[in-house]
Amino acid sequence: MSNQVQEQSSEQSRAEKEARTERENHATRSLIDDVARILIDAEAIQERVKELGRYIDEMYAGKDLLLISVLKGSVIFMADLLRAISIPHEIDFMATSSYGASTESSGVVRIIKDLNQPIEGRHVLIVEDIIDSGHTLSYLTRILEARNPASLRIVTLLDKPERREVELDVDWVGFSIPNEFVIGYGLDYNELYRNLPFIGVLKPEVYTETQEESCHQPKEKPSPEQPSPESSEPASE
Ligand code: IMP
Ligand code: MG
Repeated sequence: MSNQVQEQSSEQSRAEKEARTERENHATRSLIDDVARILIDAEAIQERVKELGRYIDEMYAGKDLLLISVLKGSVIFMADLLRAISIPHEIDFMATSSYGASTESSGVVRIIKDLNQPIEGRHVLIVEDIIDSGHTLSYLTRILEARNPASLRIVTLLDKPERREVELDVDWVGFSIPNEFVIGYGLDYNELYRNLPFIGVLKPEVYTETQEESCHQPKEKPSPEQPSPESSEPASE
């Protein structure tokens, strides 16, 4: 083996080991210990989701309804919301990623998973976890409008109105929240905390630790003070 090949393979095994250690740290971690406070508890979420389900039942009675969940953050909300809806409907999923800081203001979003079907003439309801700057949904609604649905509406579990950078018509909001980075009920920080049943705020040291910890932390992850889904790498939210 040449020196170069040897170096490459030891570099590779070091990287694999680091990745394994990180996965093990994740596995043994108590997620709840990282939570500074609960912003919205599980019961309040469930009540509000049932209420939203009733509004949707009324609005779409007798109509051909298609729910579209934007991966990954909205999966938990989607799963609960669709069971709170009693009228017949179908579901589909989309995944997007955002480009880096230079294109942030233009709100360029890339579709990395599109719908499995045309939506022309159908009543489409986008199901989102949280609206922050509004860029993701502003772009997505433009794309979907061009496909001529009978109607296009948005339901989001959370909204941070203070952070809005583009105007967006949101039809139903579960909860308006202050400008704080939140996790749980589908929402993540560094891909963790999605399984917590409530919406919570993380302890500041969690961000500090992950930032200091290592160089292989994904650069695109939002910091708590400046939550941003913008990423130079394609990664679904
Ligand atoms: P927007 O394009 O800025 O509206 O981005 C919305 C997306 O950013 C959401 O769908 C989330 O994936 C992510 N995001 C924004 N704020 C938070 C947060 O507080 N916690 C977790 N993810 C967030
Ligand atoms: Mg989302």
